[in-house]
Amino acid sequence: MALALCPGSFDPPTNGHVDIVERAARHFDRVIVAVLHNPDKRPLLAVEERVKLLDAVVGYLPGVEVVTFEGLLVDLAKERRADVIVKGLRSTSDMGYELQMAHINAALAPGTDTVFIAASPAWSFVSSSMVKQVASYGGDVGPFVPQQVAEALARHFTVGQGRGSIPGEKG
Ligand code: PNS
Repeated sequence: MALALCPGSFDPPTNGHVDIVERAARHFDRVIVAVLHNPDKRPLLAVEERVKLLDAVVGYLPGVEVVTFEGLLVDLAKERRADVIVKGLRSTSDMGYELQMAHINAALAPGTDTVFIAASPAWSFVSSSMVKQVASYGGDVGPFVPQQVAEALARHFTVGQGRGSIPGEKG
């Protein structure tokens, strides 16, 4: 039984994230989607909401479970006896950062392997931060995120948040 850990901030989940989890689920018996809860950061979507959205869009896939984690990813990997960490790679500019994380994780917990799945070209330009920015100005994020996520973003930017204002981000 091969178990993959798919970690991320998922603030918000995008079609690119969904694609990576769906493809990971085809290669591994079990996939744990691990949503980072960082109490020092102010995400747009509360961790509970990110989990709820991911549950709705990938939680139904056979073998897929959505959880939150705090602290080091390698500790969760050890606790859940994950075989690999799976991350999506959109571009060469992603690669530097992703490789750095993979090397740090391997240094912290020798034997921790990270497997990269090349993002589908259709989603290679989609990022959570750009989706947030478009949504914050009332733009249509429908092409980039699942419907439930688009609805959650619309709620956030009509109730409470001002246009163009994204928690935790400057400018
Ligand atoms: O989707 P993201 O935001 O690039 O995901 C980043 C994530 C959550 C995988 C990374 O920040 C993480 O693993 N954080 C937990 C803290 C940790 O283990 N840090 C050491 C590796 S850099």
